[in-house]
Amino acid sequence: MTTIYLQSPEGEPLGAYEPERDESVMDCLQRRGVSIKGSCFGSGDCGECALLVLSGGDKLPKPALRERRTLEKLKAPPTARLSCYIAADEDMVVARI
Ligand code: FES
Repeated sequence: MTTIYLQSPEGEPLGAYEPERDESVMDCLQRRGVSIKGSCFGSGDCGECALLVLSGGDKLPKPALRERRTLEKLKAPPTARLSCYIAADEDMVVARI
């Protein structure tokens, strides 16, 4: 079973969550009651769902154009991803930005 481990920006563990098959990281966290904003509902425009992927993102596809543009607008660090655009295929550690 794949697990998403969420940390605070300071590295404090906030929880561990098991996603459904092909479920986005954002949907998984929201389903379990974690507050992840996403006013565009996963269209990739708002950037509010961005998280840092600290480990376990090796199998993720590279960000598509829309995700890249949104992350650039946010001036997000290189390890940031839109959680509405990624699903965990292996254990993953993510942190709030
Ligand atoms: S929910 Fe808006 S970019 Fe992910």
